[in-house]
Amino acid sequence: MTPHTQPSAPSRKTILSGMQPTGELNIGHVAGALRNWVALQREYDSLFCVVDQHAITVRQEPAKLRKRTLDMAAMFIAAGVDPAQSVVFVQSHVPEHVQLAWVLTCMTGMGECARMTQFKDKSEKHADNINVGLFTYPILMAADILLYNADLVPVGQDQKQHLELARNLAERFNHHYSATFTVPEPFIPKVGGKIMSLQEPTKKMSKSDPNEKASLFLIDTDDQIRNKIKRAVTDSGTDIVYDEEARPGVSNLMSLYHIATGASFADIEREFAGSTGYAPFKEAVAEALVAYIRPIRERFLEVRSDTDGLSAILRQGADHARDRARKTLRKVYKKTGFVEY
Ligand code: TRP
Repeated sequence: MTPHTQPSAPSRKTILSGMQPTGELNIGHVAGALRNWVALQREYDSLFCVVDQHAITVRQEPAKLRKRTLDMAAMFIAAGVDPAQSVVFVQSHVPEHVQLAWVLTCMTGMGECARMTQFKDKSEKHADNINVGLFTYPILMAADILLYNADLVPVGQDQKQHLELARNLAERFNHHYSATFTVPEPFIPKVGGKIMSLQEPTKKMSKSDPNEKASLFLIDTDDQIRNKIKRAVTDSGTDIVYDEEARPGVSNLMSLYHIATGASFADIEREFAGSTGYAPFKEAVAEALVAYIRPIRERFLEVRSDTDGLSAILRQGADHARDRARKTLRKVYKKTGFVEY
């Protein structure tokens, strides 16, 4: 593993994305994000960030947060993010993120944050800890993006509203002072991005679901994967057809099979047409997932156990990110009217 050495190539477009280290990584993270990051990194100047500062908007146990931050960075790499091609770093290693966030905070209306649906959802879920950070969270996310002048931001549908704020803030700053920030576009994958709970297939598979059987973790053993698929909730009916509404259970298994093998839904329907009951299909899904997850798990264990190697990658990533972030922040401070240091 050679740490990132490429200079930023201005001819290529820049992408940036982030993930919160708030739970064990599951197959949904690969399906919805990591798979796309890996595919995009060859073409784009890419930065991928473990957003530990976003994570503390809800209560975290310090030891767990530290462990999960490293787990997540190792998982990026295990899933195929190549530190020689992409900048992999931890948000708190680059203080410019919060520095820019403050300037942007002073340009954001209370109402803009108050209408964020994720803020409303999370304040309900964490009613005993509705802190100001939870409220201003999208501004920190805007800073993550604007610091690097990202053109494209690969995110899930649930982040679209946050991205809209980042775009508005970029335009507002550019208009109020002078052209500074690139106005970023969301990059939302069309198909196969959403993996549902194995136990309640109308709910998204979530890294914080307390029911372990509901999620397929990237560190699950072969047998754990087989057991979870065997016990996955299916629908009444026996044929293998894709219908998210009427047949959420079987449709979710089809999405998983698609992730693991690349087969389209039509291919899958054809492959299992006329099979009696779900058992043969479930068995095929389980084996495909075992084959797909095994190398990721093995690579993860290798990368994660080499603590010095992992720290070196993150240090190089942060150094590179800081070089770029510092330049943007210097411009912003100057335009804002801060005296140069
Ligand atoms: N808010 C994002 C999420 O919860 C994570 C995130 C933080 C992010 N900063 C980002 C995503 C910058 C993309 C770009 O999924």
